[in-house]
Amino acid sequence: KRATLHANGWFQIGRTDDRLWSSFTEHLGRCIYGGLYDPDSPHSDDLGFRTDVQDAVRGLGLGLVRYPGGNFVSNYDWKDGIGPVSDRPRRMDFAWSSIESNRFGVDEFLQWAERTGVEPMLAVNLGTGTIKDAAELVEYCNHPGGTYWSDLRRANGREEPYNVTYWCLGNEMEGSWQAGHMSAAEYAGKAREAAKMMRWVDKDIKLIACGSSYHMLPEYLDWDRIVLGELYPYVDFVSTHYYTMNSGQGDSAFLASYADLDRHIKNAAAAVDFVRAKNEDCPPIPICLDEWNVWNFQDIKMDSLDDLLGKTTFEMTSAQPWEEAPAILQEQYSLLDALTFGGLGITILNNVDTVAISCLAQLVNVIAPITTDPVKGLLKQTTYYPLEQLTTRGRGTVIQTVVDGDTYTVGDQQLPIVHAAVVLGDDDTITVFALNCDLSESTELELDFSSLGTIHLREHRTITGDDLSVRNTWDEPDAIGTTALTPSTGNRVTLPAASWNILTFD
Ligand code: AHR
Repeated sequence: KRATLHANGWFQIGRTDDRLWSSFTEHLGRCIYGGLYDPDSPHSDDLGFRTDVQDAVRGLGLGLVRYPGGNFVSNYDWKDGIGPVSDRPRRMDFAWSSIESNRFGVDEFLQWAERTGVEPMLAVNLGTGTIKDAAELVEYCNHPGGTYWSDLRRANGREEPYNVTYWCLGNEMEGSWQAGHMSAAEYAGKAREAAKMMRWVDKDIKLIACGSSYHMLPEYLDWDRIVLGELYPYVDFVSTHYYTMNSGQGDSAFLASYADLDRHIKNAAAAVDFVRAKNEDCPPIPICLDEWNVWNFQDIKMDSLDDLLGKTTFEMTSAQPWEEAPAILQEQYSLLDALTFGGLGITILNNVDTVAISCLAQLVNVIAPITTDPVKGLLKQTTYYPLEQLTTRGRGTVIQTVVDGDTYTVGDQQLPIVHAAVVLGDDDTITVFALNCDLSESTELELDFSSLGTIHLREHRTITGDDLSVRNTWDEPDAIGTTALTPSTGNRVTLPAASWNILTFD
């Protein structure tokens, strides 16, 4: 196959925000217990934090890590998770029908974030929680002292405030599966009052409103119109979520999920534009894509996406009711999943004019790039590798790209055979992320970078393989990784069949 990638330095999409590559940890399955935190593991430090997980997370150079949910947060009382561990209650978590021991709470998370070198983003419970609970959590975390909740933090061993900046006003509140689910107008009123009170405690916090999550919901986008029409003077970001699933649509159609994500982001941006058009004083509201990933629901038996309809979130896992930290949603990602994931990453880069933050959901064990075992250690899933390249190389100014040449067909769409993003780094390198969507043939990619002066390909790394179903396992942990190819000279590169590539030019 043949294609030409045209990129011109004068046509800039925008700069990547320092928090563009972020992630998410929820009290769900073994994400927290057994993932971030496992005091009994030989791999843990004095606070019970898995140091191998911390090292892998550091390797990703993530901006924010969101916590504690997700669906979990809409049932969660943060006050259960503070103070002496022996006094903390065991609770029913209604989101995932699990037992929550509360051995890990907000202090543990914020200390984990500090030790790991990531910035925390906390979500408040706007489902079953009150606006006062939300403001009191800000007081507990951010107020220096001399008040009930700030002094309780100090009594619990943390003298200095944590100064958490990023706060999500609830999670997926438009979904009927959410505890305390409400209409857009109800959510807008509650979120506005929570925002007011939280800012009375700390005027410097940044707030993320729940936008529409999923296009199949009846209020999709009307939700954003109503919510942002009310909340725009109070919030800094609007969230959306995106998951794609390999559900029998065919390998190429699954790989093309990036085109669907592109539409999803542009729809969210269009809702912001609508609100701005109606309200002259409305500033641009960046998108916080605070959950995105490939999610194949591998641990339940399912033949198609339709099988999910009508299920509760709990029924979407293999757990029995009221297990503690069950090993659920522990996806084993394949090469095809990694390529699809990489395609989503390219789309995120090509939308940095509207997307400021994107949180990979999730970070450890639960639909995650990292899997842990109490004894065996840590396994990097196939998706770890494109993520690592995106987080390390996908920073700078993203410029517009046009790919012409061969195409492939997905439904009624005719898509270029190569999906690409071009990033001008602050170190004067140019990084091209390029997905060859042809699953059986290589593609000769010509680079038309005439406006960028004379450039040389310094490095060509690729993620590829002959078998799309290959996974990294404990027996073969390095089956899929990033491989260096000999960089070609001139302005043509060969992208192997079914490959996700990182081309570095200087
Ligand atoms: O990330 C898993 C779940 O997906 C989250 O709890 C929820 O917000 C979303 O539906």
